[in-house]
Amino acid sequence: MTKISNLFPSSQGKENVQSQSVACEQNAQPVRHLAIIMDGNGRWATKRHLPRLAGHKAGVTALRRVVECASDENIEMLSVYAFSTENWGRPRAEVDGLMRLFWETIRSDLEKLHRDGVRLRHLGRLKDLSPDIQRAVRDSVELTRNNTRIGLNVCFNYGGRAELVDAIRQIVADGRNPETITEELISSYLWQSAYSEYYATPTLWPDFGREDLRQALDSYYQRQRRFGRITVPPAAVAQGE
Ligand code: FPP
Repeated sequence: MTKISNLFPSSQGKENVQSQSVACEQNAQPVRHLAIIMDGNGRWATKRHLPRLAGHKAGVTALRRVVECASDENIEMLSVYAFSTENWGRPRAEVDGLMRLFWETIRSDLEKLHRDGVRLRHLGRLKDLSPDIQRAVRDSVELTRNNTRIGLNVCFNYGGRAELVDAIRQIVADGRNPETITEELISSYLWQSAYSEYYATPTLWPDFGREDLRQALDSYYQRQRRFGRITVPPAAVAQGE
């Protein structure tokens, strides 16, 4: 199941949502940040009696397609989860294959991504990856750093808990006084999906295309976003008091 979340699509709901129509207006704001869990490569391959790595290769093809579609939709930032810290627990051949595929894709696609105005960034623990991959990632981030068409964050060796550990280590290393540690400060050390809207589709990632993206965006635009708050008459909350 491919899952999509829209991160920070509006100004985090700071302007209070007073009515449904305002909420809809707020929803009409364009999606700024879209994050995708590229799930289903293995099942896509198995259904075709192919090795799982063939599914991951088809996943890269889908990723190329979706970067173009997201760019056409004027999405500012696309984040894709490509390899989690938990994925090291997969069979050695699959892990090696994913590493090779990541490296080969950077090498084969970097020039075109740069030409298309894509700004690449890596999220996750780079230092645990091979020196070749580290170099390729650093070079591609450096080459594309001034591009403005769309940002592409590739989460590779990324994990939510690993990110928390790294953030806390950095807060300590920065010598922060415990009294100054606030939600805002912690947020500034994290890449977070608080208040993102989630959308799940049965489409396996290698089959995901323009129409699936449009459906996900349409679903988002129809939602009423409340950021944990509700606006109902008091009587609806405490009747008879
Ligand atoms: C999840 O599907 C997918 C992955 C763990 C890997 C995704 C990686 C890519 C698409 C290629 C990475 C390369 C680049 C260039 C970013 P799954 O294997 O869990 O599928 P399943 O749930 O059907 O078994």
